[in-house]
Amino acid sequence: MRQAGRYLPEYREVRRQSGGFLTMCHTPEIAAEVTLQPIRRFGLDAAIVFSDILTPLVPMGADLTFSPAPHISNPIRTPDDLEKFRAPNPWQGTEYLSETLERVRADLQNETALIGFCGAPWTLASYLVEGNSSKSFTKVKSFAHHYSEDFDRLVDLLADAMAAYLKTQVEHGAQAVQIFDSWVGALSADDARRWALRPARRLLEATRDLGVPRIYFANGGAHLLHDLPDLPCEVFGLDWRVDLERAARALPGYALQGNLDPGVLMGPDDEIARRTRAMLANAPRRGYVANLGHGITPDVPVHAMETFVRTVQDYRYE
Ligand code: CP3
Repeated sequence: MRQAGRYLPEYREVRRQSGGFLTMCHTPEIAAEVTLQPIRRFGLDAAIVFSDILTPLVPMGADLTFSPAPHISNPIRTPDDLEKFRAPNPWQGTEYLSETLERVRADLQNETALIGFCGAPWTLASYLVEGNSSKSFTKVKSFAHHYSEDFDRLVDLLADAMAAYLKTQVEHGAQAVQIFDSWVGALSADDARRWALRPARRLLEATRDLGVPRIYFANGGAHLLHDLPDLPCEVFGLDWRVDLERAARALPGYALQGNLDPGVLMGPDDEIARRTRAMLANAPRRGYVANLGHGITPDVPVHAMETFVRTVQDYRYE
């Protein structure tokens, strides 16, 4: 989950001097620095590289800006628009990320892992069609229902492109990869199986031989718990709505990651510690990665994050 978010003063300082979020992503020296900031401050077990799920869409043809919310000024609204959209093959146009990964890996201690990531096909398709974050997803659903075969083609193309993108990240130092399906919760179970899980499976099958753990984060996917055991990944990232113990029963054989409600970090420190310990007590004893259940918001006080991390680090199972 976002570590280098706007809640950190040292991040805001670098951002103030560097002229915008995309410039930060595109400048390996800056991106490496903000990737490392939370590691220095909190001593976390892993760093997630500073980038965004939407940046690889730029070499594919998307005209993307952030202010700070993302906006795509040439969205895909018809099958014709799809023709202008292309997947670079072999992967090109994100060399800055490869350099950032190499810089971060060179700076990290051996015991700190480096995580690469991408968006899942459905989540990326929803941005490409909507043009921004949506509440109702009516444009992307309109496209998918009117032109369902073209939509299948779009999510398949994204699955193949992201598989190649993750491979590049692993070649340049990523030791685990996370696939963010941030908007899978907008779909019924039936539509999720066709438009989200089927292409996610395609992506996962194409990355089987990468040799690193692959984490699939199904945000808002509690209604899909019984469909997930089909997916060929190693770890499921769970959002904060899901009961960890129930998820562990539904997903035997997978490691789990999550899932404290980031909203708890807005409460007093003793409550953060209490809720964090309750999460850990409810978690599987093996194959578990303690984490938040979604991205940290900019208004979270730094001491709240400190309390969360310290509580996890101090916790001992009986
Ligand atoms: O921890 C990290 O810094 C890792 C890098 C990272 C970012 N975005 C940086 C970022 C990661 C892993 C993401 C993933 C991402 N981006 C997702 C999936 C995770 C999720 O939240 O479900 C999604 C949906 C996006 C798209 C996106 N990028 C949105 C909706 C926004 C606006 C956020 C807002 O609060 O308005 C962004 C911008 C963004 N990406 C920021 C950061 C640090 C804020 C940029 C800034 O400083 O203005």
